[in-house]
Amino acid sequence: MKDTSTSPAGTSTPADRARAAARHELDRLWAAGTDFLGTEYAILGGAMSWVSERHLVSAISNAGGFGVIACGAMSPELLEAEIAATQALTTKPFGVNLITMHPQLEDLVQVCLRAGVGHIVLAGGIPPSSAIRAIREGGARVIAFAPALVLAKRLIRMGVDALVIEGAEAGGHVGPVSLTVLAQEILPHITEVPVFVAGGIARGDAIVGFLEQGAAGAQLGTRFAAAAESIAHPRFKEAFIRANARDALTSVQLDPRFPVIPVRGLVNDGSQRFLTHQAETLRRFQAGELSKDEAQLEIEHFWAGALRRAVIDGDVDTGSVMAGQSVGMVRSVQSVEDIIAELVDQAVEALIRRSDRREH
Ligand SMILES: Cc1cc2nc3c(=O)[nH]c(=O)nc-3n(C[C@H](O)[C@H](O)[C@H](O)COP(=O)(O)O)c2cc1C
Repeated sequence: MKDTSTSPAGTSTPADRARAAARHELDRLWAAGTDFLGTEYAILGGAMSWVSERHLVSAISNAGGFGVIACGAMSPELLEAEIAATQALTTKPFGVNLITMHPQLEDLVQVCLRAGVGHIVLAGGIPPSSAIRAIREGGARVIAFAPALVLAKRLIRMGVDALVIEGAEAGGHVGPVSLTVLAQEILPHITEVPVFVAGGIARGDAIVGFLEQGAAGAQLGTRFAAAAESIAHPRFKEAFIRANARDALTSVQLDPRFPVIPVRGLVNDGSQRFLTHQAETLRRFQAGELSKDEAQLEIEHFWAGALRRAVIDGDVDTGSVMAGQSVGMVRSVQSVEDIIAELVDQAVEALIRRSDRREH
């Protein structure tokens, strides 16, 4: 039974003490994550192209989490300006997410190092050893995505300092395996570096579950995309508030000869048109009007600029409204501070419930 009785000023009730103990337990559970990130909470704001810029990133870091700038296709000059603008808004640590296939990856790494960025996330495939070496020699830490246990082990041998395991529930480009399974396959076997979990997480009690399995912290994207400080268009945020988990589906591939990179987002006119576009491209390929390479390019080009259209212009009908299944738990536009406070509160409540269960 919870004791919620009040007590004279200066004395604590059993409920206060239970809460303090649970908070202490949470700090212990994610200590590897907070130590690694240099933050109060081991909660990362996953990089989101067009969304994770100075405002959202600094808001997450200022609220005690760890914001990550999405470099995407930015030039080194643009990234340098974005880092400087973020540093003007926060003195807390934040990271930068670089896509490994960016043609100027080395220059981008140097921009981060010169600006004193402490953590660089390498996304979009197994990173080159040269980039990992350059980051570590420059005094920063490397975070990489591990889509399977063998790759997690390989990345650790290559020198990465931390891993993110991202389940198929996540928004944006996703792998095929759910976080429930990845966590079981990877967490018990990796003790060398902190492992952060991502994909489908919207509540603090879920974070506690993964911490207890051995995770060092959690990365969220979808909930932060809808935050008040996110520059996403109001229509983008409204679409998130309206959507249920089942509306956030991965892009559909019509023909095995023409691969489509799975991207999770809200189903809309654009995703319907993508099917007819693929069917028409296949017809033209079969009729000999397009070579195989041309047809593949036609399919890939369909979504060019579509995320920007949705996020910045608010075209949620034909744009790419990337969102994870956790979108069903986005109920309103909240400040980043409220989102993080809510997550921590839910985590603490979960730990109090667990200790209550143990005692009764
Ligand atoms: C709109 C959107 C854009 C994203 N863009 C990127 C990206 O550019 N690079 C990246 O590594 N991950 C990207 N992600 C994935 C997030 O960083 C994060 O891992 C993911 O959102 C976590 O799952 P959740 O959406 O269920 O919280 C994106 C996610 C969303 C929702």
